Amino acid sequence: MSSKVSLTGIKPTGTIHLGNYLGAIRPALQLMQNDEYKGYYFIADYHSLTTMHDPKLLKNSVYEVAASWLACGLDPNKVVLYQQSHIPEILEFYWIISCFTAKGHMNRAHAYKAMMAENSEHGRDPDQGINMGIYSYPVLMAADILFLKSDVVPVGPDQLQHIEISREIAQAFNYVYGDVFKLPKALEQDVILIPGLDGRKMSKSYGNVLPLFCEEKKMQKIINKIKTDSLPPEAAKDPDDSLIFDLYKYFATESEVNSLKQWYLKGIGWGEAKAELFKVINRELAQPRARYFELMANTQKIDDVLEDGANQVRQKAQIFLKEVKKIIGLGRN
Ligand code: ADP
Ligand code: TRP
Repeated sequence: MSSKVSLTGIKPTGTIHLGNYLGAIRPALQLMQNDEYKGYYFIADYHSLTTMHDPKLLKNSVYEVAASWLACGLDPNKVVLYQQSHIPEILEFYWIISCFTAKGHMNRAHAYKAMMAENSEHGRDPDQGINMGIYSYPVLMAADILFLKSDVVPVGPDQLQHIEISREIAQAFNYVYGDVFKLPKALEQDVILIPGLDGRKMSKSYGNVLPLFCEEKKMQKIINKIKTDSLPPEAAKDPDDSLIFDLYKYFATESEVNSLKQWYLKGIGWGEAKAELFKVINRELAQPRARYFELMANTQKIDDVLEDGANQVRQKAQIFLKEVKKIIGLGRN
């Protein structure tokens, strides 16, 4: 019997990339090998709305995220896959907990601070382009996490502060009403923040990604675009200072990693290193890729899974919200 809850969300803001896969999707699905956990994995479409205002793109991205989960092996009979906006109770709950959220926490949230800093750097008003959704983003995320009583949240390193904020909100509420909310934790894992082709964090918003699913040829082409230095092929290379090697480690066996390391130290051409990287990535992704394109060609199947997910989660959300409203003194007889 699964007694613990694993929950994570991915924003539909563009095509899923290797950072999303390594930071969230793969660890979240690996956890499902453990019967102790029940998985709730969702598409954080209301979070996307903070920055994404193109309805067609948004709709398509929802399918892309859902298809990516399913193609990577999410079994809807074991894991509930749902879309955040199908569960309106989350927003009611969001308001309740926002009344227990210190404004100071929001001022210190990394994503918001980074946007302010960028505005200031460019001599703009610090608040330019920042809507209230961006400002209160971590509260909605806390609502996502707390209403399903999550124990662990598999996320990449850039989301750790948000999990910490969720814990603080939960504690502030519990301080007043007793032990109502479970305190969530990030899933401990050794994934680093995967850099993109330009060395910054790989992110849908930076256009520097290695897409998780694209035609084989395109994947090869993008891998060939990874920036390297101009050392000649025969020169020894430092595996600890190579994005190609970093990515290789996530897809290769231990003995493959050791062999490539030796090859680096002996002297490897960058073209050869890229070919080795392509080989191991393609080995893991070829089958899921085929499933992904199949699903994208038949989105009705995705709609069915999401509808089923919504029915399951809404029931839980309604019961939970009723309990919380009773606790705060707004319950109806
Ligand atoms: P993006 O930054 O591309 O918009 P999201 O914010 O939707 O991606 O992230 C979805 C999940 O993928 C989160 O758990 C996040 O931590 C993880 N993630 C995103 N980018 C990376 C990365 N470069 N390295 C590791 N994990 C990442
Ligand atoms: N903020 C997360 C991201 O940008 C997406 C997200 C929304 C999420 N709600 C969540 C992740 C709840 C984990 C749990 O990646």
